[in-house]
Amino acid sequence: MTFDALVLGGTIHTHDRSYAGDVAVSNGRIAAVAAPGVLRPADAARVIDASGCDVIPGCIDVHVHLALPFCGTVSCDDFEHGSRAAVNGCVTTVIDFAIPGKGQTLRQAHGAWMEKAAGRSLVDFCWHMAITDERHLAEIPSLIEMGNPTFKEFMIYEGEGWNSDDARMFTTLELMRRHGGMLLVHAESPRVLDELIRREHTPARMRELGAKLHAITRPHVVEVEAIERAIRWCEETGGRLYVVHMSTGEGADLVKAAQARGVNVLAETCAQYLVLDESVFDHKDGHLFACCPQVKTKADSERLWKGLTREVCVVSTDTCSFTREQKAMWRVDHPEGAYGDWTKIPMGLPGLDTLVPIMHTRGVRAGRIGMNQLVDLCAATPARVMGLWGRKGAIEPGFDADIAVIDPRETRRVAPTGPGKNLQSRCDWSPYEGWELSGFAKHTLVRGVPMLEHGKIVGDLGHGQFLPRRRFPASS
Ligand code: URP
Ligand code: ZN
Ligand code: ZN
Repeated sequence: MTFDALVLGGTIHTHDRSYAGDVAVSNGRIAAVAAPGVLRPADAARVIDASGCDVIPGCIDVHVHLALPFCGTVSCDDFEHGSRAAVNGCVTTVIDFAIPGKGQTLRQAHGAWMEKAAGRSLVDFCWHMAITDERHLAEIPSLIEMGNPTFKEFMIYEGEGWNSDDARMFTTLELMRRHGGMLLVHAESPRVLDELIRREHTPARMRELGAKLHAITRPHVVEVEAIERAIRWCEETGGRLYVVHMSTGEGADLVKAAQARGVNVLAETCAQYLVLDESVFDHKDGHLFACCPQVKTKADSERLWKGLTREVCVVSTDTCSFTREQKAMWRVDHPEGAYGDWTKIPMGLPGLDTLVPIMHTRGVRAGRIGMNQLVDLCAATPARVMGLWGRKGAIEPGFDADIAVIDPRETRRVAPTGPGKNLQSRCDWSPYEGWELSGFAKHTLVRGVPMLEHGKIVGDLGHGQFLPRRRFPASS
């Protein structure tokens, strides 16, 4: 046989063009892309019929937290369930955050995350290394040498012992410049946030307002001021900065203005910030939607949509799934009646199953973006900005044969549980439960091997591999 597999009869979409074409796969790589009729089914061990379907490069979710110990529990999607959800939703690579436990080195955190993922993932993976201790700074050059050029700092989460102050961010950005790394920042202003929480944290207010206090204590300025400050440190040091999970329109304005001044800053948003708003906190189960930063207003979503492929160059998920039972940790029993304490909710949302379906349904079908922009936001630009280009993010000869086939005529009413369950996440709820979505995968190949066929998981959990990445060009 000349080829291991052929994907025949579909419309191929890359970040810059769409065309009728067939794809040949050999040894895990794309061997050829040809006009219809050129590649012969008899020359391949396997033929995937993509007629009437869209064929896209496997997407890269650059922001996930699988089996993360956080907020007094562990996020319920581990590499097995997270990677099942990934291939269900056209995602073939995930980037998690290796966060050192108390007293651990970065190298130990790297090892701990390798252990979590090895033999348990359908999709390829790598890590952003979280700097949570001054001593981690000295390890940066060797972690880059080991193929990990992206680092993460949190401005909040003092309770977890994860928070960085301005001095550490400044120093890390200097090191990013010197050694060819990029710093990812969770930008929320901790002191004002803590003060607002202190003011509102009374049983009476919690009984009255419940989950709404999550939004009340995080006004826009909490994110905006933090982004502004991080950009300032980046500008001063000449470092490389990437703002994660940006939720505000004003944040997008700041990034755009900084880029115009030549600052080396990029930003992602997540699907939830594009399609949800703070009215979710009015609902009976509003506390389920608590994540940091929280979803904002419709106007913010509009501004973020407008910035896509420019100042908002990547859409990710920040998957950090907690079940209803885990979210119920917010319940406080009190002699005058139980109430919910929003500071005790495990923070985060499930999302790997639904990233591409949200972008397909609310983006492409709604006429806000085209298929090329979807591929740009979820595959090509994530690959470029995270040092994976050349292997991931395109359907071109020589690239890994990470391919998702979508039948655009197929829609699903999202059901996270029950007999009609159609998500692979272990989470028993979804922010999009009951939404009618298109854009789920019909077939997903990771390095040429089917992980999902006709919507069913068929892959081997040992298939996913660690992806070492190149350093970024160091600036002078
Ligand atoms: O609420 C969130 N986002 N949980 C995950 C941790 C983080 O801040 O990204
Ligand atoms: Zn964060
Ligand atoms: Zn996160």
